[in-house]
Amino acid sequence: MKCVDDFRLRLGQHELVPIVIGGMGVDISTAELALEAARLGGIGHISDAMVPTVADRRFKTRFVKDKLQQYKYNVANEDKSDVQFDLALLAEATQMHVGRTMEAKRGGGLIFINCMEKLTMNAPKETLRVRLRSALDAGIDGITLAAGLHLGSFALMEDHPRFRDVKLGIIVSSLRALQLFLKKSARTGRLPDFVVVEGPLAGGHLGFGMDWAKFDLAAIVAEIRLWLAAEKLAIPLIPAGGIFTGGDATTFLENGAAAVQVATRFTVARECGLPDEVKQEYFKANEDDIEVNGISPTGYPMRMLKSSPAIGSGIRPNCEAYGYLLDANGNCQYIQAYNREIAVHPDEKKIRVWDKTCLCTHMRNFDLWTCGHYTYRLKDTTRRLPDDSYALLSAEHIFNDYRYSKGDAIALPERG
Ligand SMILES: Cc1cc2nc3c(=O)[nH]c(=O)nc-3n(C[C@H](O)[C@H](O)[C@H](O)COP(=O)(O)O)c2cc1C
Repeated sequence: MKCVDDFRLRLGQHELVPIVIGGMGVDISTAELALEAARLGGIGHISDAMVPTVADRRFKTRFVKDKLQQYKYNVANEDKSDVQFDLALLAEATQMHVGRTMEAKRGGGLIFINCMEKLTMNAPKETLRVRLRSALDAGIDGITLAAGLHLGSFALMEDHPRFRDVKLGIIVSSLRALQLFLKKSARTGRLPDFVVVEGPLAGGHLGFGMDWAKFDLAAIVAEIRLWLAAEKLAIPLIPAGGIFTGGDATTFLENGAAAVQVATRFTVARECGLPDEVKQEYFKANEDDIEVNGISPTGYPMRMLKSSPAIGSGIRPNCEAYGYLLDANGNCQYIQAYNREIAVHPDEKKIRVWDKTCLCTHMRNFDLWTCGHYTYRLKDTTRRLPDDSYALLSAEHIFNDYRYSKGDAIALPERG
């Protein structure tokens, strides 16, 4: 019986362990987690979601405080169109986060950044251009284009000196999305170096509607693989979503995948950015504690624990400090939902908003517990401690379990 370690992912001149830890914003996939993946010979992701606040935490900078100060006059205003990102500061924050991570890299693996197009930041094209190009400037090994169709993203980088040598990939959930992307970016004369095919069991935002349960990752991967072969396009495919064991990963590799992308198993790693008490919530979760709902103002369904404090929270929108979900006209679905509730309950001190959430604030504060479908199996991946809590795992342990375990086996951590 084979295991993941019998395979290698070839990307240009790199030969890698075919395990990719997926991007998890906001700083759930920390630099420490990504660095471990790279040290062990695989690929790790940091995320470019809300990098100024991530930089503030990591480097004691003041990007968020200063922005809030600048727009303080607007906090009580329903109209958020004034609130803009300073592009030079956005570049500085991105270069710090990426640059310091790349300086710390050891081992033969790679570090990529996960870039969510759906963070429209009140100036979608301008801010995306800065985020992508600053990551290239700071030496990132690769960029994974996520959440959004990214039809113009290659063009935003095409005159950058690193455009042809950096590894560029895209996450899709259907053949149609891939075809659209390839058609639109053909003009740049560059194919993606890899395609992550994300199925309906993944964490974070889903590339499916609320009928996600009708879809099957293996079937989508097979369809894309056949089409690429017919088009004579040799682009490595990396399935993601619900690949929980080394055995699951091996099955995909045996069926022609170049690598696998995984995330949920790593949410309970010590190096993961979630607070330890939240990691215990992930361990404790049962299958019926998890739901896919429509509260994300991006409009994409999102999977999360039903006990997430973000659900039903009626917090005042924090666009002056954050403002990542503001569209090109300064609107966000949460602002609309919040203002509606305020109008209905003008005298209430604390309102509740159920249909949308302030994604920026709650992701920033780790109060929206997004997770993969198989989060309820995490309890089977560790031991209980004398106080009944679950032992956190090292990223190395989880990585090696994926790498070497066969069949349904999951290696438990050493006792003590
Ligand atoms: C907590 C969490 C946060 C995530 N955040 C993001 C994100 O910000 N951007 C993204 O493209 N994917 C995100 N994902 C998806 C993962 O990168 C990955 O593709 C997927 O979850 C893999 O499936 P698995 O979790 O079942 O292993 C997230 C997943 C989890 C579990």
